[in-house]
Amino acid sequence: MKEKQCQLAHHYMENVHAKDSSGHDCAHVRRVVALAKTIAKDYAEANLFVIEMAALLHDTVDDKIVHATHQEALTQFLTDIHVSEQDQQHILYIITHMSFRKSKDGTRLKSIEAQIVQDADRLDAIGAIGIARTFQFAGHFHEPMWTGEKTMSEMEGIDLNTLPPSAIKHFYEKLIKLKDLMNTPKALALAEERHAFLKLFLQQFFDEWV
Ligand code: ADP
Ligand code: NI
Repeated sequence: MKEKQCQLAHHYMENVHAKDSSGHDCAHVRRVVALAKTIAKDYAEANLFVIEMAALLHDTVDDKIVHATHQEALTQFLTDIHVSEQDQQHILYIITHMSFRKSKDGTRLKSIEAQIVQDADRLDAIGAIGIARTFQFAGHFHEPMWTGEKTMSEMEGIDLNTLPPSAIKHFYEKLIKLKDLMNTPKALALAEERHAFLKLFLQQFFDEWV
């Protein structure tokens, strides 16, 4: 039953993300599912069904890429495939609270399942893949890669609101902050390596920019 429901959720996700070129493609979702399952191995008590469903569906209601009414469509879908009311509420709680924007006040999500899916999504936003997704996103929304106002050392402590949008600005707004926001030790360990790679990339990027 649960395996079938996950399969159906996979199809639902593929329909939503089929033609995406903004950094939310099906491969992103599959990596988030795989990372979430890896992290969940450390938590025998975690509800694996809720984790897999939330990971599969997490970007189908992102208001940057799909319309808000998609949350109603998702609720209808979960009802149609007979997901229990309690699991539906938990899955929707995770999906609607896990984003970086919505968790800026630093409060932790309320369930271990939510924390695990959030960590998995954040891991895919850093490292080599995270860098690639950031430039893909910037290209998709017609933002430049960088606007060149500052050197790397001048970026320390700068008010980011004074800079126009760019992929490099996004590194400072979000990517380099993610490591310290990880909820679980396993995700933190994976994040350390990816974070080091981000810093190395930035160094090389600024060196080549001139
Ligand atoms: P997710 O929740 O999967 O991280 P987001 O919608 O936040 O999805 O972003 C998708 C990808 O694009 C991520 O890799 C993210 O870091 C990147 N991204 C988000 N906003 C911007 C931006 N303004 N400029 C460049 N990249 C961005
Ligand atoms: Ni995502």
